[in-house]
Amino acid sequence: MKDNTYHKFSEKYNLKYSKKSFYRWTKPSKLVTDSIKFLPPKSKVLDLGCWEWRNSFFLAEKWFDVTAVDLSEVWINKLKDFANQNNLNIKTQVSDMWKFLDECEEFDVIFCMNSLQFVGKKNIFSMIDKVKSKTKNWWFNIIASLIIESEAQKQSILSKGKYYFDEWELKNIYKDWEIRFYEEKLSDWETHGLPKHRHYNVSLIAKNK
Ligand SMILES: C[S@@+](CC[C@H](N)C(=O)[O-])C[C@H]1O[C@@H](n2cnc3c(N)ncnc32)[C@H](O)[C@@H]1O
Repeated sequence: MKDNTYHKFSEKYNLKYSKKSFYRWTKPSKLVTDSIKFLPPKSKVLDLGCWEWRNSFFLAEKWFDVTAVDLSEVWINKLKDFANQNNLNIKTQVSDMWKFLDECEEFDVIFCMNSLQFVGKKNIFSMIDKVKSKTKNWWFNIIASLIIESEAQKQSILSKGKYYFDEWELKNIYKDWEIRFYEEKLSDWETHGLPKHRHYNVSLIAKNK
């Protein structure tokens, strides 16, 4: 992402997330709690687009070596405070995920939990290539994202610079890896500050074989 776009996004997220009323998920995602059966303790994991703390915190509590990255300084500061209060060691970085991946070393496991939908059509496929390339051989990518439900929604999502996958698209992108878990499913009813709605979710656990 170009630097000026990065700042625009960063400001937007900081403003949005600094509002006290903003909805907060507190429990770790089920995909994350389910995934740890595949992962040896102390694995070096990256939580890309970590948001506040729920998944990074859970992983650090389970003794993984966690690095959490987000564009939003507000979220990273909250995560740092929370980690300090709970004596948890979580490495943090405020960064665009693209920039971070350009500069980081390889990880054992990269989690992209509900963050890839913000990447946009132009960059999504090269972003996934980058995520794959920063994952050690025999290790994992764990992804939760959204699926397009209709042509009208697709046009609206693309016009906002976001990208939701088509059905089976993510599985196809990972066809050169070993798929350990793949699911496309309608979520439970949610609100998070919006009228009651559901999302069409995709979840993937894939091994770099
Ligand atoms: C829906 S939240 C993710 C939630 C979190 N991973 C979880 O599952 O609880 C999306 C997060 O991605 C971050 N994000 C969006 N675009 C990003 C980018 N280009 N680089 C880094 N983080 C980004 C946002 O700041 C936000 O915290």
